[in-house]
Amino acid sequence: MPEKDDVAADRFYAEVPAAHQTFGLKGSGAYDWGMANRLARIFQPADGRTVMLAIDHGYFQGPVRGLERVDLNIVPLLAQVDALMLTRGMLRTSIPQAMSNPVVLRVSAGSSILKELSQEAIAVSIEDAIRLNAAAMAVQVYVGGEFEHQSIQNLTKLVDAGLQYGIPVLAVTAVGREMVRDARYFRLACRICAELGAQFVKTYFVDQGFSTVAASCPVPLIVAGGKKVEERDALIMVERALQEGAAGVDMGRNVFQSAKPVAMLDALNNIVHHGWSAERAWEWLTSRPEEQPAVPSA
Ligand code: 5RP
Repeated sequence: MPEKDDVAADRFYAEVPAAHQTFGLKGSGAYDWGMANRLARIFQPADGRTVMLAIDHGYFQGPVRGLERVDLNIVPLLAQVDALMLTRGMLRTSIPQAMSNPVVLRVSAGSSILKELSQEAIAVSIEDAIRLNAAAMAVQVYVGGEFEHQSIQNLTKLVDAGLQYGIPVLAVTAVGREMVRDARYFRLACRICAELGAQFVKTYFVDQGFSTVAASCPVPLIVAGGKKVEERDALIMVERALQEGAAGVDMGRNVFQSAKPVAMLDALNNIVHHGWSAERAWEWLTSRPEEQPAVPSA
């Protein structure tokens, strides 16, 4: 059947080349549309950066300070984060179904702080990740750890499952207690994660040589916050990580254990997305009042 409409030839813009649709995120040139689209929900397309909030600590540590009540402590922060990293248990029980933030679902588990942490398995099926509308799946990788082989296998199996359905994988470089946290170690760990197919990698900032960790990793690196430190120090770390090639943060305790978590997220957004210096963000933060979670009356 020929077209019913007699469309004017000028509507086809025959002289205009077809748009070459690319998403400029590091390493994403060969991704399928669904994979790239999920990443574009996590990393703001305008700058390729993200402010993720990590609240998955309970999967091996229980209710850490600041996460005693995710419904009260965390839900008020969601408006200021690009993505939320958490377990399926907390997602189903404590996060509003109407939340629009992309979910980075923690899918590895298997040990508690009472045992050897590196002994993990994939603990969520790909079907459940899809059912939960996950934008990405996160897996711990213990390079050099006692169960290194098992954790690397978890990563590769997850990458295969993710590729089947267009769901990116976040590899988290977990550092065992006995390991040296230096650029040499993180170059090794981050590169292994990327070589094995992780679409983005979470790691730690190091004072010396972080730029070599970022440069040798062909996918975006985001940095964890680590233990709670002074807000000013956390902000300086983020500024330096960005200057040296990080694509954002996936911060937990330095946000939800702060006396000003909302203002801390504002400060992070201003550094990550709006080019503020850490000093400016910290000065602004100090002018903000302390915050209390909104507790509904019984
Ligand atoms: C657990 C994780 C956590 O999400 C991560 O360490 C949390 O961030 P922070 O260190 O900033 O509290 O991946 O291993």
